[in-house]
Order: sequence, then C-alpha cells, then structure tokens
Amino acid sequence: MANVAVIGAQWGDEGKGKVVDWLASRADVVVRFQGGHNAGHTLVVGDVTYKLSLLPSGVVRGKLGLIGNGVVLDPDALFSEIEKVRAQGLDVGPHNLRVAETTPLILPLHPALDRAREAARGEDKIGTTGRGIGPAYEDKVGRRSIRVCDLAEPETLSFKLDELLLHHNSLLRGLGAPEFEKQPLLDALLALAPRLLPYAAPVWELLESARAEGKRVLFEGAQAVMLDVDHGTYPYVTSSNTVAGNAAAGAGVGPGSVGTVLGIAKAYATRVGAGPFPSELFDATGKLLGERGHEFGTVTGRPRRCGWFDAAMVRQAVKIGGVDGLVLTKLDVLDGLPELKICTGYCVGGEVLKRLPAAMRAQAACEPIYETLPGWAGSTRGARSYAELPAEAVKYVRRIEELVEAPVMMLSTSPDRDDTIALRDPFAG
Ligand code: GDP
Ligand code: IMO
Ligand code: MG
Repeated sequence: MANVAVIGAQWGDEGKGKVVDWLASRADVVVRFQGGHNAGHTLVVGDVTYKLSLLPSGVVRGKLGLIGNGVVLDPDALFSEIEKVRAQGLDVGPHNLRVAETTPLILPLHPALDRAREAARGEDKIGTTGRGIGPAYEDKVGRRSIRVCDLAEPETLSFKLDELLLHHNSLLRGLGAPEFEKQPLLDALLALAPRLLPYAAPVWELLESARAEGKRVLFEGAQAVMLDVDHGTYPYVTSSNTVAGNAAAGAGVGPGSVGTVLGIAKAYATRVGAGPFPSELFDATGKLLGERGHEFGTVTGRPRRCGWFDAAMVRQAVKIGGVDGLVLTKLDVLDGLPELKICTGYCVGGEVLKRLPAAMRAQAACEPIYETLPGWAGSTRGARSYAELPAEAVKYVRRIEELVEAPVMMLSTSPDRDDTIALRDPFAG
C-alpha cells in the first residue's frame, strides 16, 4: 500500500497545502475528498505563491487532480481558480483535472443562506467563511442537491430546482432575506453544463484504475479534526467529516486504500472563527505568534487567533483522525522565544481532564494545564536536516511526540516547498 492521506490535526491552516505539494512529487494522483472553497491551501515555490481552494494541490506539480464526491463544488469558484492558476503558468484542464459526477453543486442560494443565518445568529455566529458550505451539505443529506451529473439532464435540473427553491425560499423568507427565482438559476446551470461536463468523470473508476496500475494516490484533506462535524468543537465546526475515515467515502475507495495518514500540526495553535480554544493567548506572545506566523486567513483575510501547542487536543485528533505520523510545521515561528508552553490537559470545574469534553459549555470552561519547556536561541528557519536544529528544538519535538503518542515524520521550517525535513517516507508505509 503506497497511498498517503493528509489531514489537519488542529483547527485548520496547519500547512496542509505545503505538505501535499512536497509529497506530490512522489504521487501520481492527488484527490480532494471533502470541504469546498472554504479551504485555503498555500504553496510557495521560489518566488511564486499559489493559493488553492478547490484545486487539489498536486496541480502545481502537474499531477492528475481529482475532486471527489465528498466535496461541495462552487462552479464559479472552480473556474475562477482555474483562470487564476493558468495566469500563473499552470496547465489545468480536463486532461489533468476530473470532478466526480456525483459531486453536489454550491449555487448562489447557498452562500445567501449561509450569510443570512450568520447574521441572524448575531453575536453567537459560527464565523463561517460565508461560502455556502453548510447549506450545501444540508441539501446533500436532505437529498435535494443538484449534482454535476444533473447538468446533462435539463428536465432533472428543472425538477430539482423546484424542490430546492421551495426549501430555500421558505428559509430565506423566514430570515427576511431576498428570495431566488427559478429561471435565472436554470439559465445559469444550462450555460454551465458545456463548461463543467468535460471535467465530469466516475472518479471511483479512475481511482480503481490507478490502484490496478500500482499508482500512488495522495488524499488531500481540508479543514481539520477539531473542525469535524462529529468530532470537532460542535457547533463551531465545518459541515463535513474531516477525518481520514472520510477519505474513502469522499473519494470512492475502500478504507484499506487510504494508506498512511499524516496529521499536520503547527508547532503552536491557531483558530479562525468563533469557538473554544483553551490554549489561546491574549498577550504579547500571542500577538508575536500572529505577526511572525503571518496568521491571517487565506480565504477571508481574518486575523487568526493564536496560542500554545495543545497536546491534549492533538492527541485526540491523532486517535480520532487515524493519524500514523505527525508533520510539525512553522517551527521557525517559535525561534527566539525564551520559553514554550504545551497544554497537556484541562481543568474543568475542579476536575482534571486529558481530553476535550464533548459539551459546549464544558468546552468553553476548559482551563489549560501547561508544562513549560526552554526555548532556543538559534534559528530553525530554512533548516533542511534534523542536525541543523538547536538541541532545545529537538527536545520540544520529542516531547510533543510523547504527549500526542505519534511519531513526527516530517518538519517544516519555512513556507518554501524545499524547507522541509523528512524523517520517514510516508509512502513507504
Ligand atoms: P493549509 O490550509 O493547512 O494548507 O494552511 P494555509 O496555507 O492556510 O496556512 C499555512 C500558512 O503557513 C501559509 O501561509 C504557508 O505558506 C505558511 N507555512 C507553511 N509551513 C510553514 C513553515 O514551516 N514556516 C512558516 N513560517 N510558514 C509556513
Ligand atoms: P483549510 O483547509 C481554517 C472554519 C471557519 C469557521 C468554521 C465553519 O484552509 O485548513 P464553514 O465556512 O466551513 O462553514 O466555516 O470552519 N474553517 C476553516 N478554518 N481553515 C480552513 O480550511 C477552514 N475551513 C473552514 O473559519 O470557523
Ligand atoms: Mg488554509
């Protein structure tokens, strides 16, 4: 088994794009299996920065990119991203990018509902990306989605739009938001058909051929375990399963095909949007991490909240996410800090917990329990071998391995693709 899955082990933006790009040099196929254009994956190749939301990060290395059925697809976002990367010199078209026929579409009514709901929640808003991800997944489970394959059947489109509009306009009316008319939506979908259908394919069958030919498949997760709709800090989560278990269902392969699972984690912690964050820092150190780490959302530009590495949470993500090894990124951001804290558990109402409690109020009440390690004076920035790391940095990494109960398989020391330390080859199993 030579496949690898990459998932986020915190609250997103851990550097999955960089890691997928690095691994893609040895993969044949890169597959997105959940999420949508709420994701923002950054790849830095010399002077060029690529920001990808829907395109599998393997497109930068010219690998076959697949968008699986588990993704929710905004066609306008897809085509503008294709244009954007073409302007950066990449070759992307139906010859190297395929979209599962069964992928649900995000239509303009989805972001409209997402935003209307967030506005209605006021101070209690989730802080979504406003891209219609939640409403699109609701329609999928509600069996109302318009899927890529429907574009080939105008009668099906018309029938499904009636059902979809009955549902959405009722909700929008209730929220005092403008309603949608059928004809402009139908016209847009009919115009979309000849553009999108050339990309449509039975992705499961392409993956079966890849398996039969002994090709290497890389599954690219979006978001992260703590944003998983079942296992994250509900309701402050995204609307899909982000764990490696969903790579199989969201792409159309069996669970045995997922291969080695890499959990990506920053050497500290960040979160964008609302929700519990026990190790969040509100002091000068938190500000420093944000400035040094350029912690602004790739998709929305919002500042990310910053804090210490939470080993209790990452351990939980390792267990639930099925993580075989960690990739620790942004170690360089900690350079020069006199001491570093690691959260090892929580105190809730006088009780000590080694895991995040499930209920909303209990999660919000979690007080972090820390252990303190010495920082390092030297620089890790751009290090490409373990031998280049200061002794205290090695100790920090080793302690994290112990606490999260998973080996660190790779380290990242700058945004650049090549500033990476591989301790083990994940494709070797
Ligand atoms: P993703 O959503 O998990 O792909 O992560 P994002 O791309 O949203 O955010 C990660 C940010 O950190 C990007 O700006 C990356 O270029 C940057 N980055 C990744 N790895 C490193 C690293 O090791 N050091 C530093 N300083 N930046 C990194
Ligand atoms: P990548 O793949 C960080 C967060 C949003 C919000 C919550 C729900 O780049 O790591 P949604 O629009 O999905 O309904 O928003 O999830 N969120 C992310 N945070 N990185 C992401 O993706 C995210 N995708 C969604 O900020 O809190
Ligand atoms: Mg991101």
